[in-house]
Amino acid sequence: MRDFIQKLPKAELHLHIEGSLEPELMFELSKRNGIEIPFKSVEEIKKAYDFHNLQSFLDIYYQGANVLIKEQDFYDMTWAYLLKCKEDNIVHTEIFFDPQTHTDRGIEFDVVINGIDRALKDGREKLDISSEIIMCFLRHLDEDAAFKTLDQALAHKDKIIGVGLDSSEVGHPPSKFERVFKKALEEGFLTVAHAGEEGPTEYIWEALDLLKVKRIDHGVRSLEDEKLVERLKEEQMPLTVCPLSNVKLCVFDKLSDHNLKNLMSSGLLVMINSDDPSYFGGYLGENFIQCQKELDLSRDELKALAINSFKSAFMSEENKSKWIKQIEQL
Ligand code: HPA
Ligand code: ZN
Repeated sequence: MRDFIQKLPKAELHLHIEGSLEPELMFELSKRNGIEIPFKSVEEIKKAYDFHNLQSFLDIYYQGANVLIKEQDFYDMTWAYLLKCKEDNIVHTEIFFDPQTHTDRGIEFDVVINGIDRALKDGREKLDISSEIIMCFLRHLDEDAAFKTLDQALAHKDKIIGVGLDSSEVGHPPSKFERVFKKALEEGFLTVAHAGEEGPTEYIWEALDLLKVKRIDHGVRSLEDEKLVERLKEEQMPLTVCPLSNVKLCVFDKLSDHNLKNLMSSGLLVMINSDDPSYFGGYLGENFIQCQKELDLSRDELKALAINSFKSAFMSEENKSKWIKQIEQL
């Protein structure tokens, strides 16, 4: 099965690039940039990755990002992720980045986007991995800050395909950003949003109706609302599910309790993603391997998940068909 999983061509659609920063690189960058981090060793960092909910993770995740200062730092982090993609046979990836995490520390927007974009370009040329960038607004910050960030992104429209919404979900409904997303849509960005990870199903309705999203990130709480399931099924709205993340953040007690299979059998368009692999115990391949084992996924189910990742990607129909055909032939 391991071999079969490795060979499956995959697209990853829910990956925060800052969440791919490995402890080893965090240490290297802390030294390189003279930034103190409150850990003495890689082991100490790993021990701190014991979360009880989304917020307990976010507190550590934003702290980790403090070591990212120069364009080359963003390049190195992104390049390291692309090498992991190669190992897992991820042939297409759509990565999130959180500009406000960096601009609020005085790092220029251009430094962040240019470092990430340069690595992705090299990824296309040297590793044959296609990619897109999605810019996320931090939902715990206010609407004005999001508008300011959107303004900064306009000069980089050629690099950014869409906008998303992440960070602390509960208490920060999609409706808070309705006007920002309206402007983003007018500017030609596609939209996605985290909803129904910890937050209620109402947030998923708002993401669909107010933010006009093309995908729901997470959405695992959808099954609590029959009408919503009907809507998601009818529209074949993709849900970018992140199983290891959900267990690490205690959305489910253990992987064998995850509702991935129920989402699939309800006719929903779901696929597997890694979210923040450095923090949650594994990249996409590891998510597939552990889900296969704990949820007893068949080869056909694994293939369906990989096919769904391409169906849901921001990719030409021609390229989607090419990959889907390859998977069908396995
Ligand atoms: N949810 C919300 N915000 C995030 C996440 C997540 O899973 N990962 C990084 N920022
Ligand atoms: Zn996420």
